Amino acid sequence: MRSLEWDDSRRASFVPYEMELENPYVTLDGERLLMLSGYSYLGLNGDHRVIDAARTALEHYGTGNHGVRALAGTIPLHEELEEEIAAFVSRDAALVFSSGYAVNTGVIGSLVTPDDTLLVDKYVHASLIDGAKLSGATVSRFRHNDPEHLERRLKEASPHGMRLVVVDSVYSMDGDIAPLPAIREVCDRHGALIMADEAHSLGVIGKTGRGIEEHFGRYDLVDLKVGTLSKAIPSMGGWAAGSERLMRFLKFRARPFLFSAALGPAQAAAALEALRILDLEPGRVTHIQRESARLRSVLGEAGLNTGFSETAMIPIICGSDAAAYDYAAACRKAGVIGLPVLSPAVPNNLARLRIVVTARHTSADIDIAANALRVAAFQTRLIAA
Ligand SMILES: Cc1ncc(COP(=O)(O)O)c(C=O)c1O
Repeated sequence: MRSLEWDDSRRASFVPYEMELENPYVTLDGERLLMLSGYSYLGLNGDHRVIDAARTALEHYGTGNHGVRALAGTIPLHEELEEEIAAFVSRDAALVFSSGYAVNTGVIGSLVTPDDTLLVDKYVHASLIDGAKLSGATVSRFRHNDPEHLERRLKEASPHGMRLVVVDSVYSMDGDIAPLPAIREVCDRHGALIMADEAHSLGVIGKTGRGIEEHFGRYDLVDLKVGTLSKAIPSMGGWAAGSERLMRFLKFRARPFLFSAALGPAQAAAALEALRILDLEPGRVTHIQRESARLRSVLGEAGLNTGFSETAMIPIICGSDAAAYDYAAACRKAGVIGLPVLSPAVPNNLARLRIVVTARHTSADIDIAANALRVAAFQTRLIAA
């Protein structure tokens, strides 16, 4: 019988993972600490316009949707949200699910069959891997962000069936960006399609936060975009966007869409309002991009290893799991919270703190963060004094 015990002793003594969040400061044991690992990239969680929209929907529609979208669960807000997402990411149509996880398992699980081949970047999110397992397709992993290795894998792959290449637009553990123009070229040579997960990309990269295609200034890079409504967009739910035909297919085939309750009214309204704010206030995106570049450069100059990060997600690579715990504990003493990510979520000896710059962090907050992260690094000998 499998043991269900979980050894929590070490982590509990150092870093609390589940704390009350008052972005960007948290109160812990009576102490006010700067939170550096939250996902509200755009700083819209708690925005009064988003809260008002959610409250109005709650009062109008109630707290639930009476089941699945295909039966009595669809409300006009779902369709408005889908239109807004499709327009925002430059696609003909979109479909909203109850979570990003449901999108990734549902889309891959329905679209891809055992006759097909999935070519998956080694570092994609777990939900995409779970979708791949559900599909029954042959799965071939290629080296992270390595189009040449992808090409080798495509040459080895069966010529029969669909070949779908799956990437994250921005990688959640590293903050680096998929080299999509090069991946597109390889895929075009081999007749493969591309699915990109924009979970850490929407609201974060591209001049106005429209994600990876805006970042590269090309709108022909992705065949199927997916994302979540729980990070830059401060709600819950997930979305897929592509052609009308594809969305129609998913509507009738994706099992988490067909057999799981629809996104709640307040969540749909919050997401819709946040997306509209993002459209109206691109300065939030500029702020994240400017401040994260500044933080990365200060940390780099101090000798910290921020890997290949190019975005608001900045890893500080510590090495062993113990080194990451110690660094997190020292950061907490220095007044900031950075949450450690350990193996197996990242490769062995590449444990790290994941620092996320949001639009709620002022330039003064980033100065405080830079200082605390440096001081803690000296104290734990991550960098030499
Ligand atoms: C890249 C990526 N895709 C998908 C998801 C799942 O999204 P959700 O939390 O909406 O289920 C996450 C969440 O952490 C993610 O980081």
